[in-house]
Amino acid sequence: MAISSSTRDDAHPILVLGANGKTGGRVLQRLRAAGHAVRAGSRSAEPPFEWEDRATWKAALKGVRAVYVAYQPDLCVPGAVDTVIAFYDAAAKAGVERIVLLSGRGEPEAHDAERALQAATALDWTIVRASWFFQNFSENYFLDEIVAGAITLPEGLAAEPFIDADDIADIAAEALVDSRHSRKLYELTGPQAFTFPEAIAQIARATHRQIDCRIIPMDDYAGLLAEAGLPKDLCWLVVYLFTTVLDGRNTPVAHGVEQALGRPPRTFADYVARTAPTGVWGAR
Ligand SMILES: NC(=O)c1ccc[n+]([C@@H]2O[C@H](COP(=O)([O-])OP(=O)(O)OC[C@H]3O[C@@H](n4cnc5c(N)ncnc54)[C@H](OP(=O)(O)O)[C@@H]3O)[C@@H](O)[C@H]2O)c1
Repeated sequence: MAISSSTRDDAHPILVLGANGKTGGRVLQRLRAAGHAVRAGSRSAEPPFEWEDRATWKAALKGVRAVYVAYQPDLCVPGAVDTVIAFYDAAAKAGVERIVLLSGRGEPEAHDAERALQAATALDWTIVRASWFFQNFSENYFLDEIVAGAITLPEGLAAEPFIDADDIADIAAEALVDSRHSRKLYELTGPQAFTFPEAIAQIARATHRQIDCRIIPMDDYAGLLAEAGLPKDLCWLVVYLFTTVLDGRNTPVAHGVEQALGRPPRTFADYVARTAPTGVWGAR
Protein backbone atom coordinates (compact mmCIF):
# COMPACT_ATOMS: atom_id res chain seq x y z
CA MET A 1 0.00 0.00 0.00
CA ALA A 2 1.40 3.43 -0.93
CA ILE A 3 1.89 5.96 1.85
CA SER A 4 -0.21 9.07 1.44
CA SER A 5 1.70 12.20 0.41
CA SER A 6 -1.37 14.42 0.92
CA THR A 7 -0.29 15.29 4.47
CA ARG A 8 3.13 16.59 3.34
CA ASP A 9 4.45 19.43 5.45
CA ASP A 10 7.95 20.44 4.41
CA ALA A 11 8.23 23.00 7.21
CA HIS A 12 7.66 20.33 9.87
CA PRO A 13 9.66 17.15 9.27
CA ILE A 14 9.14 13.71 10.74
CA LEU A 15 11.94 12.58 13.06
CA VAL A 16 12.82 8.90 12.65
CA LEU A 17 14.87 7.50 15.54
CA GLY A 18 17.06 4.47 14.90
CA ALA A 19 17.32 5.81 11.35
CA ASN A 20 20.15 3.41 10.48
CA GLY A 21 18.49 0.46 12.18
CA LYS A 22 16.29 -2.38 11.02
CA THR A 23 12.91 -0.67 11.30
CA GLY A 24 13.94 3.01 11.40
CA GLY A 25 15.87 2.71 8.13
CA ARG A 26 12.86 1.22 6.41
CA VAL A 27 10.47 3.81 7.87
CA LEU A 28 12.75 6.63 6.70
CA GLN A 29 13.02 5.20 3.19
CA ARG A 30 9.21 4.85 2.85
CA LEU A 31 8.52 8.40 4.05
CA ARG A 32 11.19 9.84 1.73
CA ALA A 33 9.82 7.89 -1.23
CA ALA A 34 6.36 9.37 -0.54
CA GLY A 35 7.86 12.86 -0.55
CA HIS A 36 7.64 13.65 3.17
CA ALA A 37 10.24 15.83 4.86
CA VAL A 38 12.20 13.62 7.27
CA ARG A 39 14.98 14.03 9.80
CA ALA A 40 17.25 11.08 10.56
CA GLY A 41 17.60 10.37 14.28
CA SER A 42 21.11 8.99 14.68
CA ARG A 43 24.20 9.60 16.77
CA SER A 44 26.02 10.49 13.55
CA ALA A 45 23.32 12.76 12.05
CA GLU A 46 23.34 16.55 12.14
CA PRO A 47 21.90 17.43 14.59
CA PRO A 48 22.82 14.20 16.39
CA PHE A 49 20.40 12.23 18.55
CA GLU A 50 21.68 10.22 21.52
CA TRP A 51 19.30 8.58 24.00
CA GLU A 52 21.84 8.90 26.80
CA ASP A 53 22.49 12.61 26.21
CA ARG A 54 19.24 14.52 26.71
CA ALA A 55 20.98 17.73 25.66
CA THR A 56 20.81 16.43 22.06
CA TRP A 57 17.02 15.99 22.09
CA LYS A 58 16.00 19.65 21.76
CA ALA A 59 17.75 20.29 18.44
CA ALA A 60 16.62 16.94 17.03
CA LEU A 61 12.99 17.75 17.94
CA LYS A 62 12.99 21.35 16.69
CA GLY A 63 10.07 21.98 14.31
CA VAL A 64 9.21 18.27 14.18
CA ARG A 65 5.56 17.21 13.83
CA ALA A 66 5.80 13.44 14.37
CA VAL A 67 8.39 10.98 15.71
CA TYR A 68 9.09 7.28 15.17
CA VAL A 69 10.49 6.01 18.47
CA ALA A 70 12.69 2.89 18.36
CA TYR A 71 14.52 2.89 21.69
CA GLN A 72 18.05 1.50 22.00
CA PRO A 73 19.06 -1.06 23.09
CA ASP A 74 15.67 -2.24 24.41
CA LEU A 75 12.78 -0.89 26.49
CA CYS A 76 13.41 -3.59 29.12
CA VAL A 77 16.82 -2.28 30.22
CA PRO A 78 16.95 -0.50 33.59
CA GLY A 79 16.08 3.20 33.20
CA ALA A 80 14.66 2.88 29.68
CA VAL A 81 11.03 3.55 30.61
CA ASP A 82 12.00 6.72 32.53
CA THR A 83 14.05 7.85 29.53
CA VAL A 84 11.26 7.40 27.00
CA ILE A 85 8.76 9.10 29.34
CA ALA A 86 11.13 12.09 29.53
CA PHE A 87 11.36 11.95 25.74
CA TYR A 88 7.54 12.02 25.32
CA ASP A 89 7.51 15.08 27.57
CA ALA A 90 10.29 16.81 25.60
CA ALA A 91 8.50 15.99 22.33
CA ALA A 92 5.17 17.40 23.53
CA LYS A 93 6.91 20.57 24.76
CA ALA A 94 8.61 20.93 21.36
CA GLY A 95 5.20 20.85 19.63
CA VAL A 96 5.28 17.26 18.32
CA GLU A 97 1.74 16.06 17.59
CA ARG A 98 2.18 12.34 17.08
CA ILE A 99 4.45 9.51 18.24
CA VAL A 100 4.64 6.04 16.75
CA LEU A 101 6.28 3.75 19.31
CA LEU A 102 8.02 0.48 18.49
CA SER A 103 7.38 -1.84 21.42
CA GLY A 104 8.35 -5.43 22.22
CA ARG A 105 5.75 -8.17 22.51
CA GLY A 106 5.64 -9.86 25.91
CA GLU A 107 8.02 -7.41 27.60
CA PRO A 108 6.45 -5.99 30.79
CA GLU A 109 8.70 -2.89 30.75
CA ALA A 110 7.83 -2.14 27.12
CA HIS A 111 4.18 -2.30 28.08
CA ASP A 112 4.88 0.30 30.79
CA ALA A 113 6.34 2.56 28.08
CA GLU A 114 3.19 1.99 25.99
CA ARG A 115 0.87 2.92 28.88
CA ALA A 116 2.83 6.12 29.54
CA LEU A 117 2.45 7.12 25.89
CA GLN A 118 -1.27 6.33 25.92
CA ALA A 119 -1.59 8.58 28.98
CA ALA A 120 0.34 11.50 27.44
CA THR A 121 -2.67 13.68 26.65
CA ALA A 122 -0.78 16.18 24.48
CA LEU A 123 0.28 13.49 22.01
CA ASP A 124 -1.52 11.42 19.42
CA TRP A 125 -0.05 7.91 19.28
CA THR A 126 0.18 4.57 17.52
CA ILE A 127 1.95 1.56 19.05
CA VAL A 128 3.50 -1.22 16.98
CA ARG A 129 4.16 -4.07 19.41
CA ALA A 130 6.34 -6.51 17.54
CA SER A 131 7.61 -10.07 17.87
CA TRP A 132 11.21 -10.97 16.89
CA PHE A 133 12.27 -9.68 13.51
CA PHE A 134 13.20 -11.90 10.51
CA GLN A 135 16.07 -9.46 9.96
CA ASN A 136 17.82 -10.62 13.17
CA PHE A 137 19.05 -13.44 10.91
CA SER A 138 20.43 -11.16 8.19
CA GLU A 139 21.26 -7.70 9.59
CA ASN A 140 22.90 -8.46 12.95
CA TYR A 141 22.54 -10.87 15.92
CA PHE A 142 22.82 -14.27 14.18
CA LEU A 143 24.35 -13.13 10.88
CA ASP A 144 28.03 -13.81 11.68
CA GLU A 145 27.31 -17.31 13.00
CA ILE A 146 25.14 -18.14 9.97
CA VAL A 147 27.94 -17.02 7.65
CA ALA A 148 30.40 -19.13 9.68
CA GLY A 149 28.09 -22.15 9.30
CA ALA A 150 27.68 -22.90 13.02
CA ILE A 151 25.17 -21.34 15.37
CA THR A 152 24.87 -21.83 19.11
CA LEU A 153 21.53 -21.30 20.87
CA PRO A 154 20.41 -21.67 24.47
CA GLU A 155 18.02 -24.49 25.28
CA GLY A 156 14.40 -23.84 26.15
CA LEU A 157 13.48 -21.31 23.47
CA ALA A 158 9.82 -21.52 22.50
CA ALA A 159 8.54 -21.23 18.93
CA GLU A 160 8.30 -17.56 17.92
CA PRO A 161 6.01 -15.99 15.29
CA PHE A 162 8.87 -13.91 13.80
CA ILE A 163 7.84 -10.85 11.78
CA ASP A 164 9.25 -9.04 8.77
CA ALA A 165 10.66 -5.58 9.62
CA ASP A 166 9.22 -4.49 6.25
CA ASP A 167 5.71 -5.12 7.62
CA ILE A 168 6.48 -3.11 10.75
CA ALA A 169 7.83 -0.26 8.62
CA ASP A 170 4.80 -0.33 6.28
CA ILE A 171 2.54 0.26 9.28
CA ALA A 172 4.76 2.70 11.18
CA ALA A 173 5.39 4.91 8.14
CA GLU A 174 1.68 5.08 7.38
CA ALA A 175 0.81 5.77 11.03
CA LEU A 176 3.18 8.75 11.08
CA VAL A 177 1.21 10.51 8.35
CA ASP A 178 -2.29 9.02 8.41
CA SER A 179 -4.70 9.63 11.29
CA ARG A 180 -6.63 6.43 10.67
CA HIS A 181 -4.00 4.64 12.79
CA SER A 182 -4.43 7.17 15.58
CA ARG A 183 -4.75 5.69 19.10
CA LYS A 184 -4.33 2.12 17.82
CA LEU A 185 -2.10 -0.56 19.33
CA TYR A 186 -1.17 -3.19 16.76
CA GLU A 187 0.14 -6.52 17.98
CA LEU A 188 2.40 -7.60 15.13
CA THR A 189 3.57 -11.12 14.33
CA GLY A 190 4.27 -13.11 11.23
CA PRO A 191 1.73 -15.66 9.97
CA GLN A 192 3.11 -18.65 11.93
CA ALA A 193 5.35 -19.58 14.83
CA PHE A 194 8.46 -21.73 14.37
CA THR A 195 11.66 -22.46 16.27
CA PHE A 196 15.11 -20.92 15.78
CA PRO A 197 16.55 -24.21 14.43
CA GLU A 198 13.65 -24.38 11.93
CA ALA A 199 14.46 -20.84 10.79
CA ILE A 200 18.14 -21.76 10.39
CA ALA A 201 17.19 -24.91 8.45
CA GLN A 202 15.19 -22.82 5.95
CA ILE A 203 18.15 -20.49 5.44
CA ALA A 204 20.49 -23.49 5.00
CA ARG A 205 18.21 -25.00 2.34
CA ALA A 206 17.90 -21.73 0.42
CA THR A 207 21.65 -21.10 0.43
CA HIS A 208 22.65 -24.77 -0.15
CA ARG A 209 24.91 -24.54 2.88
CA GLN A 210 25.39 -26.63 5.97
CA ILE A 211 24.64 -24.57 9.08
CA ASP A 212 25.07 -26.55 12.29
CA CYS A 213 22.87 -25.73 15.25
CA ARG A 214 24.23 -26.47 18.74
CA ILE A 215 21.87 -26.14 21.70
CA ILE A 216 23.47 -25.58 25.12
CA PRO A 217 22.22 -24.78 28.64
CA MET A 218 21.35 -21.10 29.23
CA ASP A 219 24.16 -20.65 31.82
CA ASP A 220 26.74 -21.94 29.35
CA TYR A 221 25.29 -19.66 26.67
CA ALA A 222 25.61 -16.64 28.98
CA GLY A 223 29.23 -17.68 29.59
CA LEU A 224 29.89 -17.83 25.83
CA LEU A 225 28.51 -14.30 25.33
CA ALA A 226 30.80 -12.99 28.07
CA GLU A 227 33.82 -14.86 26.63
CA ALA A 228 33.05 -13.32 23.22
CA GLY A 229 33.48 -9.90 24.82
CA LEU A 230 29.84 -8.77 24.94
CA PRO A 231 29.54 -6.07 27.62
CA LYS A 232 27.91 -7.23 30.87
CA ASP A 233 24.71 -5.19 30.40
CA LEU A 234 24.19 -6.59 26.88
CA CYS A 235 24.80 -10.17 28.14
CA TRP A 236 22.09 -9.51 30.73
CA LEU A 237 19.77 -8.16 28.00
CA VAL A 238 20.21 -11.17 25.70
CA VAL A 239 19.60 -13.65 28.53
CA TYR A 240 16.62 -11.64 29.77
CA LEU A 241 15.04 -11.58 26.31
CA PHE A 242 15.65 -15.29 25.71
CA THR A 243 14.25 -16.29 29.10
CA THR A 244 11.35 -13.82 29.24
CA VAL A 245 10.06 -13.11 25.77
CA LEU A 246 10.86 -16.59 24.45
CA ASP A 247 9.31 -18.62 27.28
CA GLY A 248 6.23 -19.42 25.19
CA ARG A 249 4.13 -16.36 26.07
CA ASN A 250 4.58 -15.00 22.54
CA THR A 251 4.03 -18.20 20.58
CA PRO A 252 0.39 -17.52 19.56
CA VAL A 253 0.15 -15.43 16.39
CA ALA A 254 -1.53 -12.01 16.43
CA HIS A 255 -3.32 -10.22 13.64
CA GLY A 256 -2.05 -6.64 13.76
CA VAL A 257 -0.73 -6.62 10.20
CA GLU A 258 -4.15 -7.54 8.78
CA GLN A 259 -5.85 -5.03 11.11
CA ALA A 260 -3.55 -2.19 10.08
CA LEU A 261 -3.03 -2.90 6.39
CA GLY A 262 -5.85 -5.21 5.33
CA ARG A 263 -3.41 -7.83 4.03
CA PRO A 264 -1.61 -10.81 5.57
CA PRO A 265 1.92 -10.50 6.96
CA ARG A 266 4.90 -11.49 4.80
CA THR A 267 6.11 -15.06 5.33
CA PHE A 268 9.56 -16.23 6.44
CA ALA A 269 9.79 -18.23 3.20
CA ASP A 270 9.29 -15.01 1.23
CA TYR A 271 11.95 -13.23 3.32
CA VAL A 272 14.43 -16.09 2.80
CA ALA A 273 13.72 -16.16 -0.94
CA ARG A 274 14.31 -12.37 -1.12
CA THR A 275 17.41 -12.38 1.07
CA ALA A 276 19.39 -15.42 -0.11
CA PRO A 277 20.12 -13.93 -3.58
CA THR A 278 21.70 -10.85 -1.97
CA GLY A 279 24.59 -13.12 -0.89
CA VAL A 280 24.50 -11.90 2.71
CA TRP A 281 24.40 -15.53 3.97
CA GLY A 282 27.10 -16.78 1.64
CA ALA A 283 27.00 -19.49 -1.05
CA ARG A 284 23.83 -20.48 -2.93
N1 LIG B 1 15.16 -6.92 16.97
C1 LIG B 1 13.99 -7.45 17.32
O1 LIG B 1 13.69 -8.60 17.02
C2 LIG B 1 12.99 -6.61 18.07
C3 LIG B 1 11.71 -7.12 18.30
C4 LIG B 1 10.76 -6.30 18.96
C5 LIG B 1 11.11 -5.02 19.35
N2 LIG B 1 12.38 -4.58 19.11
C6 LIG B 1 12.75 -3.22 19.54
O2 LIG B 1 13.36 -2.57 18.46
C7 LIG B 1 14.24 -1.55 18.96
C8 LIG B 1 15.45 -1.57 18.08
O3 LIG B 1 16.08 -2.76 18.25
P1 LIG B 1 17.12 -3.40 17.24
O4 LIG B 1 18.04 -4.16 18.09
O5 LIG B 1 16.37 -4.08 16.16
O6 LIG B 1 18.00 -2.21 16.68
P2 LIG B 1 17.94 -1.41 15.32
O7 LIG B 1 16.56 -0.99 14.99
O8 LIG B 1 18.66 -2.17 14.29
O9 LIG B 1 18.66 -0.05 15.73
C9 LIG B 1 19.99 0.10 15.83
C10 LIG B 1 20.29 1.59 15.68
O10 LIG B 1 20.09 2.27 16.92
C11 LIG B 1 20.96 3.39 16.96
N3 LIG B 1 21.47 3.58 18.33
C12 LIG B 1 22.23 2.72 19.05
N4 LIG B 1 22.48 3.25 20.26
C13 LIG B 1 21.91 4.47 20.29
C14 LIG B 1 21.84 5.51 21.26
N5 LIG B 1 22.45 5.41 22.45
N6 LIG B 1 21.14 6.63 20.97
C15 LIG B 1 20.55 6.79 19.77
N7 LIG B 1 20.56 5.83 18.81
C16 LIG B 1 21.24 4.68 19.07
C17 LIG B 1 22.11 3.07 16.02
O11 LIG B 1 22.16 4.05 15.04
P3 LIG B 1 23.31 5.19 14.98
O12 LIG B 1 24.61 4.46 15.09
O13 LIG B 1 23.03 5.78 13.65
O14 LIG B 1 23.05 6.13 16.12
C18 LIG B 1 21.71 1.76 15.33
O15 LIG B 1 21.78 1.82 13.92
C19 LIG B 1 14.44 -1.85 20.44
O16 LIG B 1 13.70 -0.93 21.21
C20 LIG B 1 13.83 -3.23 20.60
O17 LIG B 1 13.21 -3.43 21.83
C21 LIG B 1 13.31 -5.33 18.47
